[in-house]
Amino acid sequence: MASTETLAGPDRYAVFGNPISHSRSPAIHRMFASQTGQAISYEKRLAPLDGFAAAVDAYRLEGGRGCNVTVPFKLDAARYATALSQRARAAGAVNTLRFDADGGCYGDNTDGAGLVADLTQRLGLDLAGARVALLGAGGAARGVVLPLLDAGVESLLIVNRTAARALELASLAGDARVVGAGLDALGEATASVVINATSAGLDGSALALPASLWDRVELAYDMVYGRKPTAFMCEATQRACPRVADGLGMLVEQAAESFLLWRGVRPQTAPVYQALRVAIDAGH
Ligand code: ATR
Repeated sequence: MASTETLAGPDRYAVFGNPISHSRSPAIHRMFASQTGQAISYEKRLAPLDGFAAAVDAYRLEGGRGCNVTVPFKLDAARYATALSQRARAAGAVNTLRFDADGGCYGDNTDGAGLVADLTQRLGLDLAGARVALLGAGGAARGVVLPLLDAGVESLLIVNRTAARALELASLAGDARVVGAGLDALGEATASVVINATSAGLDGSALALPASLWDRVELAYDMVYGRKPTAFMCEATQRACPRVADGLGMLVEQAAESFLLWRGVRPQTAPVYQALRVAIDAGH
């Protein structure tokens, strides 16, 4: 007689988004599963733009145990959850849902923890004492403010094209180390780390950054990743910034945090990062 586990198959997880075909999350979680010996499956799910909750409800009825959530559903996911982690509440957005046996649904946001893990572990940055300039005040920026503060940064300057959004995000943080301003404040900034959380560049537009910004910057980090360096990364390189990184490591680390939430074990991220980098460089 087969065991219940065999009859039921592996525990099922998925990523919901729209679009979703580009997602590397299934590849990442399958590597985590084989590395840790966890019996899980992981698939992509395209949800209709106006039908996130219904799509997740249907997935739960099929036996789904949890999911990742990506653009444009992170706010919907925060509303969908019946309980939120502190970091999800601070981010106002959820990228990880766990469906619990009592019918509850726990919402977390692992993006900021993923960024901090990539900065401190793979890149070896000492965030305690770092002076961080965060470019952008949209969803991507909002998700990383609390984790950066918790990591002990000395100061966090949030700058945004629309200054009012940066001021609002800074005041939401409620921490004396945080200042919000317009992009022009970068002319006076003395940052050691610059993080691009804007969507500028995705549409071919470039950020107008003052040359003086780069005087003391040790690391330029773009949350976006791809085969080619972003416009922000190219500018940092041209300005002789000593270290420049894209967001692939953040992607892998946020996935590891989700895996930990679901399975109680945190996978090794370095081999998964390497495998993805090789695949991306090869054009896959
Ligand atoms: P996300 O969830 O990816 O952060 P978003 O909430 O739409 O997306 O935010 C996009 C961010 O990129 C914002 O900070 C936006 O600035 P505004 O608040 O002024 O719109 C920023 N952004 C997008 N295009 C930009 C550009 N060409 N120059 C400067 N900032 C830009």
